[in-house]
Amino acid sequence: MKYFKNKIVESINDVLETEASIKDIEDSEGERGDFSFPAMKVASEKGGNPREIAEKLKEEIELGFLEKIEVAGPGFVNFFVKKDLFAEKIVETLSKERMGLKERKGKALVEFSSPNVAKPMHIGHFRNNVLGDSIQRMLDFVGYDVVSENYIGDWGTQYGKLVYAFKEYGSKEEFEKNPMEHLYNLYVEFHEKMETDDRLLEKGREWANKIENKEEEAFRLWKLFREVSIDYHKKDYHRMGIKFDRWTGESKILDETKEILEEGLQKGVIKKDPDGSLFVEFGEEMPATVLKKSDGTTLYLSRDMANLKKRKEDEDFDLNLYVVASEQDLHFKQLFNICDMMGIDIEGCEHISYGLLNLKEGSMSSRSGNIVRVSELIDKAVEKAKERIESVELKKNAEKIGIGALKYANLCVTKQKDIVFNWDDVLTFEGDSGPYLQYSNTRAKSIIKKTDSKGEFIGEFSDTEFSFLKKLSRFPEMIENAVDSREPAKIANYLSELCEIFNSFYHKCPVLKADEDTMKRRLKIVELFESVSSVGMGLLGIDCLEEM
Ligand code: ARG
Repeated sequence: MKYFKNKIVESINDVLETEASIKDIEDSEGERGDFSFPAMKVASEKGGNPREIAEKLKEEIELGFLEKIEVAGPGFVNFFVKKDLFAEKIVETLSKERMGLKERKGKALVEFSSPNVAKPMHIGHFRNNVLGDSIQRMLDFVGYDVVSENYIGDWGTQYGKLVYAFKEYGSKEEFEKNPMEHLYNLYVEFHEKMETDDRLLEKGREWANKIENKEEEAFRLWKLFREVSIDYHKKDYHRMGIKFDRWTGESKILDETKEILEEGLQKGVIKKDPDGSLFVEFGEEMPATVLKKSDGTTLYLSRDMANLKKRKEDEDFDLNLYVVASEQDLHFKQLFNICDMMGIDIEGCEHISYGLLNLKEGSMSSRSGNIVRVSELIDKAVEKAKERIESVELKKNAEKIGIGALKYANLCVTKQKDIVFNWDDVLTFEGDSGPYLQYSNTRAKSIIKKTDSKGEFIGEFSDTEFSFLKKLSRFPEMIENAVDSREPAKIANYLSELCEIFNSFYHKCPVLKADEDTMKRRLKIVELFESVSSVGMGLLGIDCLEEM
């Protein structure tokens, strides 16, 4: 807990006249007390014998809030905080706004999901959605003024192809029945045909130009496809419990894109090829890239440049986070680089990159049409959850359990790592899973509900009780850590460990059957656990349940 770490650091610095920081104080367990300071570091920096420095600290630090100080090993100073004070501080800290964390000020844009028009979201998007959602929840928790944005892919030659395909071999009935599936089938069909028919690419371009020039039919169809896609995606988001503060898209930034390309040309950052296309070079570091084709069409990267500038200069975001898969690492490197070369302030811009999500039974390929849709993924998880739930009455929880399980399985892995889903692990009700978090949380709720008493710290803590409390006390720092590293996995893993401790605590230390004082003391711990786990699950976007 920061409160005690700060106090300890202050006393250390007073005695040694050093500038140790709170990071030098470690959380510790058992014989090593509650917090530990390795004097070895000071010794190597300032000279002296670590063991002697440790002894000096032990002699000279006033105990005050401490029960005792001990020296161990090559120079560890172990601090034991008075247990009742520790407990009192935890309660106070956890009930504060932001759990006592310093308020982060500033405007943060979290752009995530950003699927393309006319394609259902696939399982890769699922990972993106839960990661982005959790990051925006975490930033919001620590005080940022957060705007979540869905920047959809709604511009480019592919929509010319689609409009053409729809006109040539689309079906009105099919479209009306299931617009998204029909569009997606057309998209796949078109690309299959393109392999043997060169003419089609030309047709696609022609219709893309018509859209760009707002020609009636082309523009109307493009708009319709865009709208039905958004409606379709919204159903997925609704199930996932994800909301966006705003929807934008590549098509909303076209004028600014033209301007920024002009600006880049004038500044000499962007160069013109004899064929009229525009490109930029990055020297040795990265491959050069085209920003505007010879036929005048602008590209994905150029639209991102315009958008970055707008977010910075017009909207004044302090943080501009792009949650996008690692396949686009180079894209974002190029984006930040070129903006920097043009003198656009890129401070606060970050690409939040993450690895692949795959199913054990097979991967996906959007071109060949065998993608696993987000909706299918969720259906399957919910189906499996239903099978696991024994009580007929509680089967209604299957949606929340299935989705919670999927979310957890995505968030418990460090974002850079690839994930291969194994359904049995995802939906287990025991240990390291979404259902396990939900189960532990409901178990705590049911204990609390069974009594009219209120928890209260009376009497002495047993070791089991106290070490559970210590684990609870680390929650706020864990959030801070997760925010700084943009890493929900830290919270997910912490919660999983916490639940494990709760379950063993519960077996070792009966709550409601204990004598009055013990009951109240343990109940208080259970109450704290319930609130920490609810807040933690909230940060992951996992629903709490009343019963399970
Ligand atoms: N629509 C793009 C895709 O599906 C992702 C957009 C990511 N965001 C961005 N600002 N480039 O690949």
